Amino acid sequence: MNSTLSACDYDTAVRADFLHFVDDPDRNDQACQYLKDGLLLLKQGRVVSLEKYNGDLKDSALLYNYSDKLIMPGFFDTHTHYPQTDIIASYGAQLLEWLEKFTFPTERLFCDREFADGVADFFCDELLRNGTTTSAVFATIHPESVDAIFSAAQKRDMRLIAGKVMMDRNAPDYLCDTAESSYAQSAELIERWHQKGRSLYAVTPRFAPTSSEQQLEAAGQLLKDYSGLYLQSHVAENHAEVAWVAKLFPDRRSYIDVYDHYGLLTERAVYGHCIHLDETDRQRMAETGAAMAFCPTSNLFLGSGLFSIADAQSQNVRVGVATDVGGGTSFSMLQTLNEAYKVSQMAGQTLTAMKAFYLATLGGAKSLYLDDKLGNFAVGKEADFVVLDLQATPIMKRRMAKADSITDQLFALMMLGDDRAVFATHIMGQCQHSRGS
Ligand code: GUN
Ligand code: ZN
Repeated sequence: MNSTLSACDYDTAVRADFLHFVDDPDRNDQACQYLKDGLLLLKQGRVVSLEKYNGDLKDSALLYNYSDKLIMPGFFDTHTHYPQTDIIASYGAQLLEWLEKFTFPTERLFCDREFADGVADFFCDELLRNGTTTSAVFATIHPESVDAIFSAAQKRDMRLIAGKVMMDRNAPDYLCDTAESSYAQSAELIERWHQKGRSLYAVTPRFAPTSSEQQLEAAGQLLKDYSGLYLQSHVAENHAEVAWVAKLFPDRRSYIDVYDHYGLLTERAVYGHCIHLDETDRQRMAETGAAMAFCPTSNLFLGSGLFSIADAQSQNVRVGVATDVGGGTSFSMLQTLNEAYKVSQMAGQTLTAMKAFYLATLGGAKSLYLDDKLGNFAVGKEADFVVLDLQATPIMKRRMAKADSITDQLFALMMLGDDRAVFATHIMGQCQHSRGS
């Protein structure tokens, strides 16, 4: 322990093995820091120090002893839909048909606050069960659905980004707002939730086909009228969708150019999918600071295509990983990394375990512009973390016995692990999920 610290400098101590990133492992071979038998000291939920455990601990501190477990920063899910929880794993359609057949009818139910509360509570518990501590979440067009998800997150003290879906055309009447009402309702929600506690608001036009030009303008106006907002949407996921956008916006060079035209490519803008883009599109994303959310389970499930991490990286675009539930088929970031590896294989690329866990932690934080607060155990950061059990299942136990390095262990963890490997999840230092309790 840091010998200059006294007992009143911290209120919580956590003993375990620790692994975190201070940089992108593809760009810096010292990026990963692995500490066997470490001690993380916290005060009021923030990191005070992380050092080798030396057996000396003031007994006034609350001690979490996870000495046979591996702690990492909590995972970032950079794009997901809580109202789609109940339609996860719905058979047999690609994007546009899937939206009509499963998504819109279920999103209709979120006009009911009590119903929305029930799903939001389940969803946040599921995030915690899977070690996900920060997430960028779509609600529905109903303001009640936004109140429900922020309330559920606040009950658990989670840092969560969310927003009301804006959608005024090409959707059933029961799911349409207007340019004016979507501006007014979003503004009211921003005033109620944005930067209140750990909540952050995202202006959320669903995707270009379901917003009129006036509504896309209204979304841009919200970004101008309030500071520090996020913007989340979808882009270039599916070939039929891309062709539809070209028809709806004939004057725009590309799908990304539609969003660019309305001022929606900015810092803190996060776009799900980004599969069918060209070099100019990626260049604009890099120049503007917008981020891509790579959604491997969803892209495979809906047959959308193969995202290229290498293309994003070579053009310096920010990238995070995302479950995209319920197009995505798992809440588990470990399973999401598993599928990300396979997508990369199919695209003739590779995804190392180091890069994968970087993307799920510090890389995710950077893509959401939260790396000043989260993403690793640097002093002063908010202590959201996941406690991993590398021996969680019989096959993991056997495979780990053969692993001869931390890199190999991490790779086996992301290929074989799921919610069973998440022993506990802590938010601001406090245990919010513990397996078996
Ligand atoms: N594009 C527009 N809306 C959606 C959605 O809800 N899920 C996915 N995967 N893509 C979309
Ligand atoms: Zn999505």
